[in-house]
Amino acid sequence: PADAHRDDQGRLVLGGVDVETLAAQHGTPLYVISEDDFRSRARAFVEAFSEAFAPETDVDVFYAGKAFLSTHAARWAAEEGLCVDTASGGELAVALAAEVEPARIGLHGNNKSDAEIVRALKAGIGRIIADSLDELARIDQLARSAGVTAPVMLRLTPGVHASTHEYIATAHEDQKFGLSLTPSSDADTDQENPYAGSPAWSAVEHALAAEHIELRGLHCHIGSQIFEPEGFEVAAAKLIGLLGRVRARHGVELPELDLGGGHGIAYTEADSPRHPRQIAQALAGAVRTACDAEGIEVPRISIEPGRAIVGPAGVTLYRVGVQKDVQVDGPSGETLSRRYVAVDGGMSDNARGVLYDADYSAVLAGRKVTGNHVLSRIVGKHCESGDIVVRDVYLPTTTARDDLLAVPATGAYCHSLSSNYNLLARPAVVAVKDGASRVLIRRETEEQMLRRDTGFAAQD
Ligand code: LLP
Repeated sequence: PADAHRDDQGRLVLGGVDVETLAAQHGTPLYVISEDDFRSRARAFVEAFSEAFAPETDVDVFYAGKAFLSTHAARWAAEEGLCVDTASGGELAVALAAEVEPARIGLHGNNKSDAEIVRALKAGIGRIIADSLDELARIDQLARSAGVTAPVMLRLTPGVHASTHEYIATAHEDQKFGLSLTPSSDADTDQENPYAGSPAWSAVEHALAAEHIELRGLHCHIGSQIFEPEGFEVAAAKLIGLLGRVRARHGVELPELDLGGGHGIAYTEADSPRHPRQIAQALAGAVRTACDAEGIEVPRISIEPGRAIVGPAGVTLYRVGVQKDVQVDGPSGETLSRRYVAVDGGMSDNARGVLYDADYSAVLAGRKVTGNHVLSRIVGKHCESGDIVVRDVYLPTTTARDDLLAVPATGAYCHSLSSNYNLLARPAVVAVKDGASRVLIRRETEEQMLRRDTGFAAQD
C-alpha cells in the first residue's frame, strides 16, 4: 500500500501498525488491507473517469466484489461513491448486508440460478447483466411472476481479448461468457447491419420486446491485468457500433455502456500499469469519436475495476519456518544456489501462483534488512511442489525461523480464491488505518472445518 513504511527498528508499518504487532494480535498467515489505500484507489477511478467523460456524460464505477468482498469493503466502496458489482447470490448477500443502496448493485454470472435472479429482483438491484438468451427469457418470466420490471444489461463478447500490453482481436470468442457479435453461419446478411443474425442482435431484439425487461444497455469485459487502453477502446467502438444499429433499426438509444474491469496492477517490478487517468482519457476520446460517427449521444458509462482497487491495498504476512539451500543450474549453465523458504500458508491462501503462474515479490518485514542477500523461493506448507508463493526473490541470508515476510499486492483474488486444502484454516483479513487494526473476516478455526464432517459432528 502507498502508506507502507519502515519504523526506526526497520519493521514494516501498514496503516500505522507495525507488522509484529499485527502478527501478535491476529496470528499468521494474515491478510492486511490498508483502508486508506483502498479508498484512495477507489476515489482515483471515480475522479479520473468522471473528469474524462465530463461534461457529456456521467460514469458509474462498480467495485468488482469478486476481487475481495466483505461488508466493510462494500461500505468503503459505497462511501467513496462507487457502486458494487456482484457475481453470485453470496456476493449479492454481502452487498445487501452492507446496506449498499440496491439501485447501486449489479449482478453478474454466466449461469445464474432462478433463486439468484429472484433475489436480485426482489431486492430491487440496479442491474442484472444477462449473459445468454436463455437467461434473458428466464429474467423476463421471473420478473413477470414477481410483478416487477427487470433492469438488464447484455454482456457481449466484442471479440477483443486483452491482457497486459497486448490485445488480440479475434473473429469470434471461444469462451463461455456472453453473447457473440458474430452472425451465425446460416443468418441472412444485411448490408446495413453487420450484427444482424448474431446472438447479440437477437438478445437486443428479445430484450426490447420483452414486457418485463427494461434494456439499460450493453456490457463487455475484455480481460484481466490490462495495462494499455487500446483493448478497451476497440471494444467500446464495437459496442457503440451496435448501439448505432439499434438506434437505426429500432429508434432507441440505449442509455448505458459498461466496459468491465481488468485494469492491471504492479505485482513485481516488471509491471508498470498506467494511472486510471490515462486509461480514462484515452477511452473517453475513443468513445466520443465512435458516438459521433454513429450520430448518437455518449451513453452513461460504467466500469468494474476490482483488482486495481483492492490488490495493491493488501499485503499477506507469513512466518518463516523451515529453510533449505539447493544448487540449481543458472540460465547460462552456471551453478546457482537457491534457498527454499517455507512459510505457514501457501496455495490455500494464495492460489494465483498455481492457477496462473502469477508472480509476486516479498520483503523481510519484521526487522531491518541488512547484509547479503540470497536468491530465494517462498513456498507454502502444502503437499504439492507447485505450492509456490514467490518464485524468485532476494532475501537477506540472515532470514531465519519466525521472521515475518510480507507479500505485497495480495489484496485481490487471494482471500476470495482461498481454500481449505490440506484442511488449513483460512486466515483472517484485517483492515489497518490510523494506527489501529480491526478484523474484517475472522480467522477460520479447525473446529469450524471439522463441523462440516458429519462423523465428527455426530460425536457431540
Ligand atoms: N467485471 C467482470 C464482468 C469480470 O468478469 C471481472 C473479473 C471484473 C469485472 C473485475 O476484473 P478486475 O478489475 O479485478 O481484473 N482470478 C483471476 C481474475 C479473474 C477475473 C474474472 N473477472 C486472477 O486472480 O487473476
